[in-house]
Amino acid sequence: MYHVLVSDPISEEGLLPLINHDSVTCDQMPIEAAEQSLELYDALLIRSGTKVTDNLLKKMPNLKIIARAGVGVDNIDIEAATRRGVIVINAPDGNTISTAEHTIAMIASLVRNIPQATRSVKDGIWDRSRFTGMELNGKTLGIIGMGRIGTEISKRAKAFGIKVNVYDPYLTKERGEKLGVASVSFNDLLESSDIITVHTPLTKETKGLLGFDSIPRTKKGVWLINCARGGIIDEEALYHFIKTGHVAGAALDVFETEPPKKNKLLELDEVITTPHIGASTKEAQLNVAAQVADEVLDCLQGIPIKNS
Ligand code: MLT
Repeated sequence: MYHVLVSDPISEEGLLPLINHDSVTCDQMPIEAAEQSLELYDALLIRSGTKVTDNLLKKMPNLKIIARAGVGVDNIDIEAATRRGVIVINAPDGNTISTAEHTIAMIASLVRNIPQATRSVKDGIWDRSRFTGMELNGKTLGIIGMGRIGTEISKRAKAFGIKVNVYDPYLTKERGEKLGVASVSFNDLLESSDIITVHTPLTKETKGLLGFDSIPRTKKGVWLINCARGGIIDEEALYHFIKTGHVAGAALDVFETEPPKKNKLLELDEVITTPHIGASTKEAQLNVAAQVADEVLDCLQGIPIKNS
């Protein structure tokens, strides 16, 4: 019998092949609740809530595979897992569309003040002039990172009449042309964009990519979007440049610390936020759960897996 622990909320419907499999017992509970039986498990399925540290792995000597039902694996100590011979997989494309749609929704909400206007109307204030927004048509969107999500955002942005500039060292000129976007240098992207959205993993290189050094090189009145990972936009710098009026506003689905604690950005009217829900749709959650469930089953049965 294989023992599987699902320690974050993951679509049960997507996990059915695993849950119903004859040779699997599947427990769904937070890691703290499984503390007494951690040594039992062959597979661990997580979202972003569970932090997989070397210490946790030490308590799970039987573990063969960690499956992340989503894209980012920054909550997993990959080096420790590799050292202990534990395979790490993710679901790289199941939530692409949902995250791209959420990013577009955040951009539209931000430049039209939709959350602030909603709050105002609900507070009984009918103030039409305070919420004058900006048209997206004819503006330039700078996309940092043209992976799956960046690519889907570019397609949707073009339908709004937006010009798309991309900074991605891996984007070839030919692919850029095929997608109808301009491949530009980091500096050109900063200088030319009305709106900048980041779509990279959080790494040593991308941490604080938009920060005290780079934000001043953007247009005055720029709008900044982060639906990728907290920390790619430096929160101190963002706060500073919104206060000085250089940055018009920001839309944040992610934070350096989640949930954010005593975060000054939350005091600013110019900042709109959601609680890391870019991938939180029924469709995306079903996709990522089904994808990792299949691969975990393969791995446990000794069938080579595609995505480690
Ligand atoms: C991801 O990395 O896929 C996203 O952060 C979505 C999530 O799992 O919450």
